[in-house]
Amino acid sequence: MISYVWKVRLLKRPRFNLFWRYWNVWRGKKVGNYSEIPTLIRQYAKGHTFADIGCMWGVNGEYAFLAEEAGATAVKGVDVFGPTPEFEAKKRERNSSVEFVLGDIGTQATLTEVGSIEVVFCAGVLYHHPSPFDLLVALRKVCSKTLILRTSTIPEVKGLPNAAVYFPMLSAEQRKLWNLSSLGLLNQVGITNGFEPEEGYGNWFWGLTPSCLESLLITAGFKVEQRFTEPFAQTVICSVIAPPFVHELPNELDAKRSAEAISSLGIAKPA
Ligand SMILES: C[S@@+](CC[C@H](N)C(=O)[O-])C[C@H]1O[C@@H](n2cnc3c(N)ncnc32)[C@H](O)[C@@H]1O
Repeated sequence: MISYVWKVRLLKRPRFNLFWRYWNVWRGKKVGNYSEIPTLIRQYAKGHTFADIGCMWGVNGEYAFLAEEAGATAVKGVDVFGPTPEFEAKKRERNSSVEFVLGDIGTQATLTEVGSIEVVFCAGVLYHHPSPFDLLVALRKVCSKTLILRTSTIPEVKGLPNAAVYFPMLSAEQRKLWNLSSLGLLNQVGITNGFEPEEGYGNWFWGLTPSCLESLLITAGFKVEQRFTEPFAQTVICSVIAPPFVHELPNELDAKRSAEAISSLGIAKPA
């Protein structure tokens, strides 16, 4: 564990972080960068319907407008706040058809309004969600072809695949490890000053390792086709697969029948 803490501390040092990037490029790995998002959107959006989930904070719908410019056939931007004046000004200036949907992607009303979308883009949202699996399931419900997902992650824990850290309620001392101010992130809500309930989804909830992220994606019905890795972030291009796990509440009659079967088989024992 001590060696993991030192690994994280080293990766937070700008010079080592840069060295890591060069070293991985030299090894032939695909190293990611936030600035490459426009290239990915141009590459995948053309000729397809496109939605940006979490389109507003700091970007004012920019990626939705970019997808439209790149030739997406219909574009939606979804967020829990907005639209900002900047979004509305861009929409007017471009005479754009980008549609803003105000809603939480985790709700049925928003899923219905968004509908089925071929290319779904979602950046900077997953680690802000207390239930990342539910968010991925929601993305899968609207995505019919490709998911472009970018999220903050934590470095892999050697010998402990699928590890993750839940940030809320960590002590100030424990949070220090996850504070990325040395890499230029000056305010990580929930980490810099501890959990801030009134900030809601603004908090950082989960530090997923890349292996945990991939397992969650598969369980939600996505296959990672391409991965662009960084010490504290992953950008993945996913195709859709049949979700291996869907829980549907049975109707009352079916529920009663399965309850009878479980009782007659005597398989339900207290754990
Ligand atoms: C950190 S910002 C990322 C903005 C932009 N996508 C980017 O990558 O720079 C997260 C955005 O997602 C929005 N958001 C968070 N949870 C959401 C949810 N459940 N449904 C829709 N939007 C959400 C936030 O309001 C915010 O605009």
